[in-house]
Amino acid sequence: MPSTTPDPFAVEVVRHAYDTVAGTYATHLPDTRAEAPIDLAMVDSFIEAVGTGDAAAVLDAGCGTGRMSRYLADRGCAVQGVDLSLGMVAEACRAHPDLPFAVAPLNDLPFEDDQFAGVLLWYSTIHTAPSGQAAIFAEVARVLRPGGHVLVGFQSGQGVREVVSYRRFGHDVSLHRHLFTADEVASHLAAAGLTEVCRMQRAPVGREADGQAMVLARAD
Ligand SMILES: C[S@@+](CC[C@H](N)C(=O)[O-])C[C@H]1O[C@@H](n2cnc3c(N)ncnc32)[C@H](O)[C@@H]1O
Repeated sequence: MPSTTPDPFAVEVVRHAYDTVAGTYATHLPDTRAEAPIDLAMVDSFIEAVGTGDAAAVLDAGCGTGRMSRYLADRGCAVQGVDLSLGMVAEACRAHPDLPFAVAPLNDLPFEDDQFAGVLLWYSTIHTAPSGQAAIFAEVARVLRPGGHVLVGFQSGQGVREVVSYRRFGHDVSLHRHLFTADEVASHLAAAGLTEVCRMQRAPVGREADGQAMVLARAD
């Protein structure tokens, strides 16, 4: 008989968790104050590589409540946000009514081939099991135009962590995240035909439980 144990990385579980915590997320993480300066330096390098203005559309893939979409837009990017969670997207629309947001999973994006000059995956691949990573990067490669760039931000390492940080706000959600090494992410990017440009890895700071890594890659 098949197991009935819920898969903690199933999209329905992730969607339900973020629908539940969306208001709390928007309230307590409204901007980039949690990012270390070197993390934002990687985002700034991504923006410089992508260029700005309407000709350089950027997809904030797994945009959540839109705080990184805001960061990109304020620096001249023509941003489109997309996220699995309707609750997170509703918060994004409320906080950033001037920006467009859509609801969709990362492995089935409702966008044309070659539509974007940049794709930002900022801590949005972390809730997908290793077996689902290739489909996400293939989809990113599909919507990225030749010469376009993708930046991936994630907690680095190995194994799985239960996300318990929402409990102190009264949310008893089931949410897990995977740790990936920068080499693993780089190899997923390479398998999707994307060439690594550079990477940054750093130790945890403040209340972070894990190190962080960012990998910038280009579509040739
Ligand atoms: C840790 S939050 C990060 C949100 C945003 N990038 C930020 O930095 O504030 C992870 C986000 O990724 C979204 N997400 C996770 N898995 C996804 C998937 N398979 N497809 C689309 N969105 C996904 C979640 O709904 C959530 O909004």
